Amino acid sequence: MNEAADPDLPAIRLVCPRCRVRGQEDARATPLQRQGNVLVCTNRACLARYPASPFPMVLRDASAISGPATLTPWHRLAPDAAVAWLEAMPPDGAPSIAARRFATYFWAHFRDLLPAELTPSFVTGPPLSVTLASMVAGPWQSALVMGSGAGRLPLELSAAGARLVVSLDIDPLFVSWAGDLAGGGTLTCPLPEGAVRWTHSSFDVPDRLLEAARRVEPICADALDPPMPHRAFDLVVLANLVDNVADPLTLLAEAQALLEPGGTLLIATPFAWQRNVTPPAARLEARSWMDETGAARSLDGPEAMVELLTGKLRGPHGWHMELAQSTTLPWHLRYHARQFNTFVCNVFVFRNTMSRKAARGRDASCAE
Ligand SMILES: C[S@@+](CC[C@H](N)C(=O)[O-])C[C@H]1O[C@@H](n2cnc3c(N)ncnc32)[C@H](O)[C@@H]1O
Repeated sequence: MNEAADPDLPAIRLVCPRCRVRGQEDARATPLQRQGNVLVCTNRACLARYPASPFPMVLRDASAISGPATLTPWHRLAPDAAVAWLEAMPPDGAPSIAARRFATYFWAHFRDLLPAELTPSFVTGPPLSVTLASMVAGPWQSALVMGSGAGRLPLELSAAGARLVVSLDIDPLFVSWAGDLAGGGTLTCPLPEGAVRWTHSSFDVPDRLLEAARRVEPICADALDPPMPHRAFDLVVLANLVDNVADPLTLLAEAQALLEPGGTLLIATPFAWQRNVTPPAARLEARSWMDETGAARSLDGPEAMVELLTGKLRGPHGWHMELAQSTTLPWHLRYHARQFNTFVCNVFVFRNTMSRKAARGRDASCAE
């Protein structure tokens, strides 16, 4: 998949989202085969084609990226030219908003490697991605980070010994940035100074992370319709994604389906639902829940998430998770030199309690 990948590594098998029936069990999902720079569906009634280079872009409907896509030319310009270009853009225009969004995650993921003056004294401790990676002891055979953003968490999981980490994001700019990280050297990003002015900052990719990047496979895909076979991962991570999608229940169900029996699901979220992304009725705390006895329950986001995934609520999916750990952690974002935002992030570590036998039974019944 990733041409720079180590040939000894287990490349993850991709399946075709276009001919898979959403929600259907995995036995009928069709593998994709690489032909040059294209991935082709092996189902003769489908034959869908997806770009494979410089990274796989495997989307049922590419219009899914029309919202968040931030492919604007500034990231191919020299840093001072990028700053001049961004300062010439209307501050509220799409290119400027996209570059600010990228800069926010660049700082949030790599602030410990950037010059100290970019981080105010009230921001302490390692970046959230680094702490999250340290909470789930591996080493993992095959880990998946969905909504990976600027990509620090996949790198840290790999540095901690994961054999393969798939770094999935729907935004091609973040996915292409993961490729830049793997190239090493000095990486630079324009950073907003204020509402209009920009500067730029750089860091050298440390050898530890450069080595780790060899085991990270970036992919552009939709976490609500992921092109990977069920039970392909022993670790799945949703870091600040649950409250950033249109359908959080589908996201959680997909994450569970991608986990092998006994696997670990790490979820971090401040339940700060994005106004234009998650419709009010889809937000976990807005739903009317019923427990196993049929009694109505009114629950806040964190409680609803735990009770749902551990099978204590009636819901549209079958849940078989057990809560192993929960905590809260600060998540700092930098909007510009005088505006920072700190979320209180709820962090949960779940284990998939479905037995291998039950998982095989599911496959057999749907292959018939
Ligand atoms: C709030 S950011 C969090 C980034 C990173 N995980 C972190 O904690 O800093 C959400 C990320 O999810 C990505 N994203 C949003 N919707 C997605 C979807 N349906 N599938 C995959 N990625 C998605 C965005 O492009 C963005 O990179």
